[in-house]
Amino acid sequence: MADLRSDTVTRPTAGMREAMAAAEVGDDVYAEDPTVNALEAEVAALFGHEAALFAPTGTMANQIALQLVVPPGDELLCDADAHVVTYEVGAAAAYGAISTRTWPTLGAGLDPAVVAAMIRPDGYFAVPTRAIAVEQTHNRGGGGVIPLATLRELRRVADTAGLALHCDGARIWHAHVADGVPLHEYGGLFDTLSVCLSKGLGAPVGSLVVGSAARIDRARFLRKRMGGGMRQVGVLAAAGRYALAHHLDRLADDHARAARLAEALAPCGVLAGPVRTNIVPLDLTGHRLDARALATAARAEGVLLSVLGPRTARLVTHLDVDDAAIDHAAKILPDLLTP
Ligand SMILES: Cc1ncc(COP(=O)(O)O)c(C=O)c1O
Repeated sequence: MADLRSDTVTRPTAGMREAMAAAEVGDDVYAEDPTVNALEAEVAALFGHEAALFAPTGTMANQIALQLVVPPGDELLCDADAHVVTYEVGAAAAYGAISTRTWPTLGAGLDPAVVAAMIRPDGYFAVPTRAIAVEQTHNRGGGGVIPLATLRELRRVADTAGLALHCDGARIWHAHVADGVPLHEYGGLFDTLSVCLSKGLGAPVGSLVVGSAARIDRARFLRKRMGGGMRQVGVLAAAGRYALAHHLDRLADDHARAARLAEALAPCGVLAGPVRTNIVPLDLTGHRLDARALATAARAEGVLLSVLGPRTARLVTHLDVDDAAIDHAAKILPDLLTP
């Protein structure tokens, strides 16, 4: 099977497993796990921030970060298709009592002027806006990369209004590799980031919240409250450290493979947008196959893809799909998708 559903389906490599087995560990709730501490210091430094905190999932890392920057009842602005309001099962409301308001789906085509026009001032009669969240790369936005200039302009908008800026950077690594923007350059634009080791980087688990020392102190408290205080998780942090050392630069291979798939599919007229990173978004509007029918037919031919909606689907390249798998998908999918 060529499993192109998601970059979360990867399994730890032999080298990663060795690193996990050899990891020094301690009780991380006491901040005594040397491997976790090393990972946190390493990731904080990569983004040019003071501190970072290991969390079990990207969802928890995002939600901790949102609670850091938006007090209960106040407002977060984000894209209508943002992961934080689409796939985190209402956590901002349920855990943080955070009001969320969304701009119509723009994905990586984010327009800072649209965001600026939505900001509400403080006042007893309105919900005060406290933070803006962006997603880099944009998952439902087809793996699109928000340009650095746009992010700089959004930072200016946030500063003018006194708002915090959060980045859901589950795949910020892909943006870094695709656009060549240094990670610390991204880091300098955001008050908080969440970054995942368990997507394209290929670790089995793990995300981090990144920010100032004071915010990460508070994040540690929030993580415990949310049930994310873990013990000898150096074995997991070791997988993350290994992933950063060995799997970051190779994301370019995933991007090239996604581009090959896109090239093969272009004549079928089903690409939902340009392919910049490891996600190939499909729009089957008007096609004889809907997303479910395509997924079923592709599975019968040994290719797995994700159904996102009745007429939308996606293919994702990652560590566990090689050139042979891409050759196979690039052959059978255009056959299935002939109009
Ligand atoms: C953009 C984005 N943010 C956050 C997450 C959440 O990660 P997790 O599944 O580890 O909670 C994902 C998961 O795919 C994601 O794509």
